Amino acid sequence: MTLNSNFFAEKRDWSKLKDQILDHYLAPYLAKIKTTGRPTRIADCFAGKGRFDDGQPGSPLIIAQHVASILARNPALDVKAVFIEQKYATELRTNLATAANCRVIEGEYEQCVRRFLSEHVNRDRNYFFYMDPYGFKSLSFDYFARLKEVGFRSLEMLINLNSTGFLREGCRLLNLTCAVPDWADDLDFETDGKNHPARMNEVAGGDYWQAILADFQAGTLDFHQAEEKFIAGYTDRLVMHFKYVVNIPIKERSHHMPKYRLVFATDHHEGLFLMADDMHAAWRKLLEQERGGQLYLFSDEDLEALRGATIHDKVFAELQVPLHLRELLIRLIKKHGIAHTTGEYKKAIKEGEGDMFSVTRDPAKTPTGRPSLSMDHNKGRIIVSVIPQEPVLLQS
Ligand SMILES: C[S@@+](CC[C@H](N)C(=O)[O-])C[C@H]1O[C@@H](n2cnc3c(N)ncnc32)[C@H](O)[C@@H]1O
Repeated sequence: MTLNSNFFAEKRDWSKLKDQILDHYLAPYLAKIKTTGRPTRIADCFAGKGRFDDGQPGSPLIIAQHVASILARNPALDVKAVFIEQKYATELRTNLATAANCRVIEGEYEQCVRRFLSEHVNRDRNYFFYMDPYGFKSLSFDYFARLKEVGFRSLEMLINLNSTGFLREGCRLLNLTCAVPDWADDLDFETDGKNHPARMNEVAGGDYWQAILADFQAGTLDFHQAEEKFIAGYTDRLVMHFKYVVNIPIKERSHHMPKYRLVFATDHHEGLFLMADDMHAAWRKLLEQERGGQLYLFSDEDLEALRGATIHDKVFAELQVPLHLRELLIRLIKKHGIAHTTGEYKKAIKEGEGDMFSVTRDPAKTPTGRPSLSMDHNKGRIIVSVIPQEPVLLQS
């Protein structure tokens, strides 16, 4: 197996963004998950060296730091991290030498998962899996499904999916002649010459990608549309196992389509809200830095298309019937992805309260007897509905 670049020489923008999302998610995740009172395990399945050669921390050090900080505040908590690494286990052990509750497993992810599933598995645990391989070939969909079938107390996955690399490889394997943009080559891509369409089916969770590429070949889809369709198909497969899936598309400067997707899957609405907000924040930060960086998420046109209607209109469109605030937020994120934060939606509802929207709170009063203005979707019942508007009469 060859790798075209020295991945760990310095931390590139894409890795910085992945790490930022992971870093921002873990603190609120651990704070929430500790309330379950159950053991929690974070598994970094393609862990790497722990530190880049330029000194910057990789995902293992970020995870270790979160484990250490929650343990410092709650020493009795059963929170541990496991790091699987095939090639750099020695460096990783050195870099994690002083990290509490962190274990390095030297070996192949696939073997580790098979072994894990074949042993007695303690289901009464929370698991967070971070999947960050170089390419996509190790990301067997079936393993995700089998892990999910175990029925852990909770299971969440953050998957780095090189969707463009996948489609490019698909074109090669299917001997398609249509031009795949050169830039779809990935510096980090592994080539072992042993790939075949059946293996690609295993990664994608089905053969739907072949029909998508046939449409690309026929000219009915451009590469951008093919990528969008592929990620929609992938999301559909994940949604068969997890209640909620959200992703952040990342482009490289000067190319107008996503190259990578960081895909998150969870069964818990709170996980969905946290991650969607986290991805949105990463997107905002990237937009601010965009002028100088190599990565970007959306062109101005994409941004307009993504944000589309006003936020009030988007909320309005979901309220065919009155909805619990939590359910409304879930629907909005499912439909509009990371275009807005949960805070922005709540602010829009509050701004429109009494005018566009009616908000009924139970309890209606605060403990001090004042009318409740709460927008806390976890406390009490908050039902949002549309206030019917008087028709404007032309003759009046
Ligand atoms: C993209 S790097 C991970 C970077 C890491 N997340 C970070 O932030 O520093 C992928 C790592 O997975 C390892 N790897 C590749 N295939 C593997 C496999 N099948 N099982 C375990 N580790 C693997 C590589 O040696 C490499 O260190």
